[in-house]
Amino acid sequence: MEIRVNLELKAETAPRAVRRGDVIVAIDVLRCSSTIITALTNGAKAVIPVETVREAEKMREMNPEYLLAGERRGLKPRGFDMGNSPLEFTREKVEGREIVLTTTSGTKALRRSEGARWVLVGAFLNARSAARKALQLAVKEGLDITLLTAGKRGRFSLEDFICAGAIAEELKVAGDTTLSDGAKAANLAYQTAKEDLLGTLQRGEHAQYLVKIGLEEDVEFCSQLNRYEVAPIYRDGVVRLWNRQL
Ligand code: MLT
Repeated sequence: MEIRVNLELKAETAPRAVRRGDVIVAIDVLRCSSTIITALTNGAKAVIPVETVREAEKMREMNPEYLLAGERRGLKPRGFDMGNSPLEFTREKVEGREIVLTTTSGTKALRRSEGARWVLVGAFLNARSAARKALQLAVKEGLDITLLTAGKRGRFSLEDFICAGAIAEELKVAGDTTLSDGAKAANLAYQTAKEDLLGTLQRGEHAQYLVKIGLEEDVEFCSQLNRYEVAPIYRDGVVRLWNRQL
């Protein structure tokens, strides 16, 4: 069975993928997806994405053991335990913990994907594993796939687009897939960028902003391809590592 690979370019258009019934791979390279992947790889029990700081605070009032993490304008909100730098999510800090996470666009993309049967979290860090898991689910259930790039505040994001292209590359190699024109364009962009992913990311507006506020190490970390073999799944309001071996 041939699987179509669609592309949606911002969090706000996630409901279109939900209506199509696609398996969604939600991508926010800088930095929400990369942070979730790193936290779960380092032993966090679960990541709970919420849209607002207030929502996160309320969750902690009800569950004092939760860690609060996230960003506004790239920085840790007041009273939170952690920001949104994947490098903060070390095993010492997160092992066995549940983390409530609120970010500008990434957690919104996840929340707007609610209603989809399967939502995976993808970034460069886990591009191959995310692609393989999406394909496995799509084949098993006769579904198409949407690569959903979170964008930034409703705008196009260079690094998410290139990452969609990296995941599309893995989907092409692994299965009987047809890329939509959008997914093809992302894949062509990835072909051009892949020899110097970090250099390409550094040209993006959000990467430049992160460098300006002193977070250039995050950009370097998030540009690593296939560092982790995990495919986090968002279900019932929670992201978990469901299955390490794909
Ligand atoms: C977002 O969700 O918009 C981001 O992850 C922003 C960031 O932390 O750099």
